[in-house]
This record gives sequence, C-alpha cells and structure tokens, in this order.
Amino acid sequence: MYLIETEDNIGFLTASYIKNRIKSFVSTKDNPYFVLALPTGGTAINLYGHLVKFYKEGLSFDKVVTFNLDEYVGLSENHPQSYHSFMFKNLFNHIKISKEQINILNGNAANLEQECTNYEEKMKKYGGIDLFIGGIGRNGHIAFNEPGSAFNSKTRVVDLTPNTISANARFFNDDISQVPTRALTMGLGTIMSAKEVIIMATGAKKSQALYHAFEDKQSTSWPVTVLQKHPRTFIIADKAAAAEISKTTKRDCGLCSFIN
Ligand code: PGA
Repeated sequence: MYLIETEDNIGFLTASYIKNRIKSFVSTKDNPYFVLALPTGGTAINLYGHLVKFYKEGLSFDKVVTFNLDEYVGLSENHPQSYHSFMFKNLFNHIKISKEQINILNGNAANLEQECTNYEEKMKKYGGIDLFIGGIGRNGHIAFNEPGSAFNSKTRVVDLTPNTISANARFFNDDISQVPTRALTMGLGTIMSAKEVIIMATGAKKSQALYHAFEDKQSTSWPVTVLQKHPRTFIIADKAAAAEISKTTKRDCGLCSFIN
C-alpha cells in the first residue's frame, strides 16, 4: 500500500491515472473490456468532472465496463440520492457509454442475495476488476464495508452504521430518518481481488482512518487496513487527510512512483 500525499487536485490525478490505464489497455477477443470499479460520494464528484473533460478531449470509453461499488437498499433508482442517479448525473449522462457497459447493484431486487451473487459472477466473467477507485469513510470503511466486515467478504447486503448514516444525512436534507439503513456493497474480498486500487482521501475528517491505514496493524475494526496486504494500492491524500501519518511512513512512501 502506497501513500501519495499531494497538494495537487486529487480528482484530476485520479482521472489522469484512469485515462492512462484506459488508453494503454489492449482489448483482445478473450479480454475485450477494461473493468473499472467506480465510487460515489463527495470526493468522486471532482473526479468525474475531470473524466468528462477527458472524454470531451477524445478519451473513449468504448472498451470499458464499469461496476459501481455499492447502492442503497430500498431507494428508488430515480431518487436523487440513489447511486444510480449520482452516476448518471455526474458521469454517464456526459460520456458515450452504453447501458450494457454500466453495472450498478439493484437495491430494489426481489432477491437481494441473488443480485449480489450475480454481480460477483458478472465481474468474474469480465476477468475481474482491473482498477478499483474508492473513497474512504471516516470510520475507515471502503464502499459500504463497515467496521467488522470480514476481509474475505464478497458482494452482499449490509447494515449501515450510525456513523455512516449520520455522515450521509447531509445528502438527505440533514434528516437522519430519510437515510436508508441498508445497502448492497462489493466486499473487502472483492476489492482485494482487484488488480489495482486507488483510494482518494481529502480533508481532516479522514485523517484518523488514514492513521489506522498506515500506522496500525490489520484489524477488521478499520476495514481499510485490509489493503495493507494488497500489492498495488495507492492512497492519494491531501495534507489534512494525511496529517496523522508519521514522518517515517511518509518518507518510506515518498519515493513510490505513481503515474507509471
Ligand atoms: P465522501 O465519502 O467522498 O463523500 O467523503 C467517501 C466514503 O464514505 O466512502
């Protein structure tokens, strides 16, 4: 797991990395699509703005399939706060990409467990995730893998913690009672099987989670620590988010190359 502490725009850096990976991807008969796992959340809005700009400058998504990390249970797809709405509003409505290339978990499926199993199978059918992009919660969650999530967990139905529900109330008129209490999410095991992982972290609210990510031993109390054993994970953080990481760790991570 590598730390990239930067003053640069994290959305721009991440979008640039995605662009480079898509452009260097060689589509073959056996492996036609680059598989990109995509997040929602405040940090992602900036990222998608830059991806749309790259699209307008000529970046093609023709050989890309996307899998979103998670979705609320029981919120209609058309609800402004559903992750379906978020993705179309911020990305898919602005680029050329077919419905068949877009995968978002259906939080209203009649059989939620089956929906999760099908999602895992579909990712496998495409050869697994090439590049996973995520944010991080204040409590160290990745996607909706809350503290206590098993490190080998797969896509599944989860209960959201009070911490996450209250963090997300800002998207529901600050009314906690409107925030769904369950979600479907890729698991930590799903994320670990991705070939590359980028986690974006901005602001002081994320500093405790990053402290545990880099300075603590692995523990399900801080889901992000699962990534300590992932061979190609980059955590891109601004100064505020990286504030609690020790100088020694920063020095060790300082030489890692990012865009290569
Ligand atoms: P945020 O969410 O980008 O809105 O801070 C990240 C997350 O909770 O995964």
